[in-house]
Amino acid sequence: MGTAKTFPLNAWYVAAWSHEIGKREPLSRTVCDNKIVLWRKADGTLAALEDACWHRLLPLSMGWLEGEEIVCRYHGLAFDGAGTCTRVPSMDTGNTAAKVRAYPALERHRFVWVWPGDPALADPALVPDLHWNDDPEWVGDGKTMFAKCDYRLFVDNLMDLTHESFVHATSIGNKHVAETPMETIQKGRTVTSSRWMLDIDAPPFWRTQLGKPGNVDRWQIINFEAPCTIVLDVGVAPAGTGAPRGDRSKGVNGRVLNTITPETGSTCMYFWSLTRNYRLQDQSLTTFLREANAKIFLEDQVVVEAQQLMLDARVDRGLRNLNIDAGSMRARRLIEDMIASEP
Ligand code: FES
Ligand SMILES: [Fe+2]
Repeated sequence: MGTAKTFPLNAWYVAAWSHEIGKREPLSRTVCDNKIVLWRKADGTLAALEDACWHRLLPLSMGWLEGEEIVCRYHGLAFDGAGTCTRVPSMDTGNTAAKVRAYPALERHRFVWVWPGDPALADPALVPDLHWNDDPEWVGDGKTMFAKCDYRLFVDNLMDLTHESFVHATSIGNKHVAETPMETIQKGRTVTSSRWMLDIDAPPFWRTQLGKPGNVDRWQIINFEAPCTIVLDVGVAPAGTGAPRGDRSKGVNGRVLNTITPETGSTCMYFWSLTRNYRLQDQSLTTFLREANAKIFLEDQVVVEAQQLMLDARVDRGLRNLNIDAGSMRARRLIEDMIASEP
């Protein structure tokens, strides 16, 4: 690993699901080596401050919320959502010099995003598009995985789905995934890798979702947006009904939303959501899919954490690339470009 930077700071990163941030308890999260305390003000808007009191650096997340403010557990200094000290119990007033760093934060698509870099560059238009998570035409749910690995190992994992044939052989994988080549296109800060498997037997999972017999056309379109967001456009349609040409109306379609926030160089928070555009009212299907997917992703976690241990043990030894790594190589290069562009 060395000391090379592994992530850019000038980017929006998911720090939490929206529902995790409340008005009663502060929440502590680490984003790109920044310890951040999050809470919700009376009007519902977010506050995100450095999780360290101005006075003696006690984590503010150990304190409590009082109206709009967070109160330090040690000597009772209070700070508002902008990080301004509003009260020093031992003095009559606040201390205007006592300021805690505030982070740009916003909510979109059921996630809370923070910007750990230069606040002047925190443009809300740069938030990755994960609209499927709250689009009325789609339904789904997900979870968070806290993993002991460099977030880029998950980027590699998602950019190369041939691992499905081996890591997930009992669920979503079958031989067609490993045997069908991908087409990879890079545009700006995005990389798209597409694989179409035409007229194949459907793997068990998709067979059930489609609910129809016969061969299928299956697609996996991987959309990466630097530094760490990947939307998988996946589905099947009865073979020959036009899906490769854009008519997916006879099939079933899912979007697997993935965004992997680096906590440190070797730990991350992996937020994912499994959304679909069929059986929208079926809450039990939503729950079933979420739990089934959580099990599948545990199979990935075992692999990437074992890789990380070996990377740490063999710092002299880098990763090697095969043709299947075309997508992840481009993704990693985009990440490197973002890092290199920062002071
Ligand atoms: S450390 Fe926070 S008030 Fe003293
Ligand atoms: Fe996987």
